[in-house]
Amino acid sequence: MQDQPRVAIIGVTGFIGRGLPGLLAAEGFACTGISRSGGGVIEGIDRWQTPAALDPAGHHAVINLAGEPIDRRWTEDSRRRFHESRVGVTNRLVETLRALPAGSRPKVLVNASAVGIYGDRGDELLTETSAPGDGYLAELCREWEAAAIAAEDLGVRVVRPRIGVVLGRGGPAFEKLRLVFKAGLGGRLGSGLQWMPWVHLADLRAALVHAVVSASLTGAANCTAPQPERNGDFTRKLARALHRPALLPVPGFALKLALGGFGGALLAGQRALPAALREDGFRFRYPTLESALAELLEGSDRPPGGP
Ligand SMILES: NC(=O)c1ccc[n+]([C@@H]2O[C@H](COP(=O)([O-])OP(=O)(O)OC[C@H]3O[C@@H](n4cnc5c(N)ncnc54)[C@H](OP(=O)(O)O)[C@@H]3O)[C@@H](O)[C@H]2O)c1
Repeated sequence: MQDQPRVAIIGVTGFIGRGLPGLLAAEGFACTGISRSGGGVIEGIDRWQTPAALDPAGHHAVINLAGEPIDRRWTEDSRRRFHESRVGVTNRLVETLRALPAGSRPKVLVNASAVGIYGDRGDELLTETSAPGDGYLAELCREWEAAAIAAEDLGVRVVRPRIGVVLGRGGPAFEKLRLVFKAGLGGRLGSGLQWMPWVHLADLRAALVHAVVSASLTGAANCTAPQPERNGDFTRKLARALHRPALLPVPGFALKLALGGFGGALLAGQRALPAALREDGFRFRYPTLESALAELLEGSDRPPGGP
């Protein structure tokens, strides 16, 4: 429809993005999908563009969720692709916005980032005012956010959702965990003391919609549940919810050996709190891990041989 406000979504074909157009439609937005493949069928998308022909003129908002998955070995070549698909895509997006007449620029850019920006921080409570940390992911996220912040000079409200470990059906993290734990092979990673800033997929998507709609939210916003868990407690709670033991800790050295840099990232912890979202009035549907697991495992949490 012509006079509906419109949101362009880069990375809409991905795990997080594909559920957004339906939620935005419920808020009265039409959606333009941006994909390298040129399109597909996603409920709520009525127009497609490729990144090369991106034209966000007249859109109310752009949500940028592009990023090559990092849950693999980090080779020099893959690091180049992680960077290009985040910092490179964001730089080109901001240049596209710069080239538009001021009156037709989107009002808001919601540009993904990650809690990895904080590095490995032990028990420190991390809100958006905490300083970024060290390490490869922290550096990547800093550059990614800096690229997005450049749009502020164009009069665009920029929100930087610092996304945690997303738990959602069909998602890479949750499905791998579920299968391993269901087979009775789950266990804590390393010492298990590291904090896991998890978030339920439904809450994350709702937070991204909130970022588009709420004019008072600006800057970094931790997209993590209000109650992060230590990896060891997360492990016990998931095992309990699946009625399986959690007996087999995975030693830190084995994770690093098998997964290299990504293995190291799994051993790093961030006790992140969603201060900005809460101050802006956002309410989490799944604030506790127990409530999230109950929803995610509904129908699949029967004991073996049980009803
Ligand atoms: N899932 C998580 O737990 C999590 C946690 C923290 C941060 N994040 C961040 O949130 C964003 C979305 O995550 P997601 O889980 O939805 O990711 P995803 O399922 O892997 O989807 C990301 C999208 O990015 C685009 N993309 C992939 N490789 C690209 C490349 N080399 N160049 C340009 N575009 C590329 C793809 O769109 P097309 O193929 O259609 O172009 C893809 O649909 C990512 O930036 C990710 O780093 C996710």
